Amino acid sequence: MSEAARASSLTDLISSHRVVVCVGSGGVGKTTIAAALGLWGALNGRRSMVLTIDPARRLAQSLGLETLAADGERIDPQRLAECGLAVTGDMFAGMLDQKSAWDGFIRRYAPTPEAAETILANGFYQQLSRSFAGSTEYMAIEELYRIHESGRYDLIVLDTPPTAYALDFLEAPERLSRFLDRATVRWFVRPYATLGWSAWKTASRSVRYLFSRIEDATGGQTLSQISEFFILMEEAFDGIAQRSSRVQGLLKGPDTAFVLVTGPDEQVLDDTEYLSGRMEKLGVPLKAVLMNRLHVEPQGSDSSHVSEYLSWLQHYLEAHGVDARARAWLVDAYKEACRLARVEAVRRDAFELGLGDTVVTAAVPDMGRDVHDLATLGEIVERF
Ligand SMILES: Nc1ncnc2c1ncn2[C@@H]1O[C@H](COP(=O)(O)OP(=O)(O)O)[C@@H](O)[C@H]1O
Ligand SMILES: [Mg+2]
Repeated sequence: MSEAARASSLTDLISSHRVVVCVGSGGVGKTTIAAALGLWGALNGRRSMVLTIDPARRLAQSLGLETLAADGERIDPQRLAECGLAVTGDMFAGMLDQKSAWDGFIRRYAPTPEAAETILANGFYQQLSRSFAGSTEYMAIEELYRIHESGRYDLIVLDTPPTAYALDFLEAPERLSRFLDRATVRWFVRPYATLGWSAWKTASRSVRYLFSRIEDATGGQTLSQISEFFILMEEAFDGIAQRSSRVQGLLKGPDTAFVLVTGPDEQVLDDTEYLSGRMEKLGVPLKAVLMNRLHVEPQGSDSSHVSEYLSWLQHYLEAHGVDARARAWLVDAYKEACRLARVEAVRRDAFELGLGDTVVTAAVPDMGRDVHDLATLGEIVERF
């Protein structure tokens, strides 16, 4: 998107991007908002795909994700229509299945189909794909790129993993390339693999120490499995490195919008500030911040009407035979809801002031219940 055509609302922003990445600290609603953005796409004529990471079980069921389908399952328009959602496009949803994503990755990059099978059966590979730090993040981005390249969708929304370090995935490709670096193979593995175990036995103590550390880190795999893996992967390194830079290009390019999901709590806002600072350092332009689960004043009443409304409420409850204690409780609950809404509104204003005017802001209210069905997702879309 050009500077001149800067978006003025969240939907404006989404309209002009093909890839949307929802980031944010744990539990703020990334998965929910990602699903709602995908639904917005389908309601607005897009062929949208939501790639989720860890949907709550009932949300997954609503999206038709009982079985793992990384390539995406189409959500039956009939089911959407039954929830009052008249889509003019199409909605697909997929859930990241780490194991098949890694296996697909190996099949794409291994020099031959036979080499791929050998790698897949390799114990070190199996361990690496499960425990490599940033493994889920790497595969999420890899899958995003693969789906983007397929050209099948107008809008792809990526949910991001619930890691403690919410932006690790941006560095994961780089970390993987470093880990698989060609030099590692040359220096460490190849001489011993080609010369066999006798060379290994006479290798210097420090090299042996290094290998034992690798073995510890990878759950006690034998050296031969490690060298087999690296040797088979060596030919794939160039391809992986090139792809890594294309992936980074997509993430930082004009087609992609990062939406930072946050909430109105003090702690969450602190985390969000930290995340937006890190994004800036990583060179990822933050395009929108969405404050989720905001408490709004009951009936949207403006504060000048609160006392008027309260006396009306008192009379109404009394006239309907509600006893004094229950009346007092209800009135207190109402006052507390108003107070919370006002506090959050102030926090929101202060937070948004600090964002600068290039970032689009949006808010979604707390729906008062978990969001696990298409109809409630539809209600969220109406707030965008
Ligand atoms: N606007 C909302 N109103 C009410 N509940 C919400 C809202 N957004 C998310 N939730 C609920 O909050 C919980 C965490 O949401 P989720 O999308 O799984 O967060 P994350 O993916 O960031 O961990 C879920 O139970 C979800 O239904
Ligand atoms: Mg999630």
